[in-house]
Parts: sequence; structure tokens; C-alpha cells
Amino acid sequence: MRLRVAIGADHGGFELKEELIRRLGENVTIVDMGAHEFDASDDYPDYVLAVGRAVATGEVDKGIMLCGSGVGACVASNKIRGVRAAVCHDTYSAHQGVEHDDLNVLCLGARVIGIEVATELTVAFLMARFSGEERHLRRLEKVTAIEEAMFAIRRDVDAGQDAADGSEELEPFDISSEEEDLEEDEEDESEQENVEEDGEDESEQEEKEQGQ
Ligand code: RB5
Repeated sequence: MRLRVAIGADHGGFELKEELIRRLGENVTIVDMGAHEFDASDDYPDYVLAVGRAVATGEVDKGIMLCGSGVGACVASNKIRGVRAAVCHDTYSAHQGVEHDDLNVLCLGARVIGIEVATELTVAFLMARFSGEERHLRRLEKVTAIEEAMFAIRRDVDAGQDAADGSEELEPFDISSEEEDLEEDEEDESEQENVEEDGEDESEQEEKEQGQ
């Protein structure tokens, strides 16, 4: 079965994408997520979402995202649950990232590398397979656990927000009286400090009078 690969690029990577598709198309099934024409004002997150979704849902086996530097594509791709993206501009990282870290989206910077290097990196990435070795699985599980923890936190925050939206569930809360209480506490504290300082002054005076 042929490898299915989603590819996307903004204006920074558009030309490189077109050339990569021409070169790879005979050997793998390419799903072109756009841009489908050069648009100098387009935004890489739009193509990241399409590529990342295809990878995360299993519609394709791997993804390739191109932009000017590869950085924006990488940052945005890693926001998608289940996507593991990296900028790899050397062949070692391009295949080792898959073998050890189960990298599933390769990000390339078209303003940094040319078509020959991009082709070699892409082939290294596409040919590589996750090793499945115990230590790499263990690390991958820890990475996934971080991702799940972040989603759980976000769920809790969202749930809190939902509760706040339903005003009948909120306890009455009088901000002005709370502020007055705080001011009174502060006044009490400073009065107490003055009393203590006055007490110290008096005992110092007494000591001097007693010639100690
Ligand atoms: C677009 O000018 C450029 O910022 C974008 O392609 C990419 O390099 C971002 O990381």
C-alpha cells in the first residue's frame, strides 16, 4: 500500500511544495491541502490545520508543512492533539525524529533550504518508521501524558467558565464590602504597629531615666 502524505504551504513555501509534489507524486499518494495558488497574504495556520487534522485523524500517514522558515508551521502544528511536528533541516533528525519520537509532521523552511535538500529530508522522513523500542515507547507515553494533562486543565477551565456564565449558580459577592473589610484590616494593622512602636519608645525612655 502506498504511503499517504498530506502536504501544505503558505506563500513562503508555495513554490517548494509544488516542486516536491512533482518529485514525490509518483511514489506516494499526495493529498495537497493548499495553498492551491500563490497568495502573498495567506496565513500558514490555515494550512497547518488541514494537514494536522488529516494526520491526527489517520486520513493520511504523515504530513509535510512548508513555510518560510518552518518555524511558524511547527509551532502551530504542535497545537493539534496527536501531532508531533519538528523543523528538520538535517537528514539525521528527519529520520531519527520518526524512529525515536514518532514524528508525524515534517516542517521545512523554503527560505532556508533548496529543493535538493528538501527532497532528501522528505525522503528520509517518509522512509523512516517508529522503532517501537521500549524506551522510546515509554518516552512517547510521557509526551502524550503532558498533552492529555494540558487538555484536562483546559477542560477544567472551560467548565469553570461555563459555571460562571450561569449567574444563578454564583454566590452573591459584594466587592465593595470586601474592599472595605480589607481597608479596615490594613488600618488595624498600622494602628497596632504604632502602638507597638510607642511602647518601645516609652520603655527606652524609662531605661534611660533609670540609667541602664
Ligand atoms: C511568511 O512571510 C512567513 O512568516 C512564514 O512563511 C513562516 O516563515 C513563519 O514561520
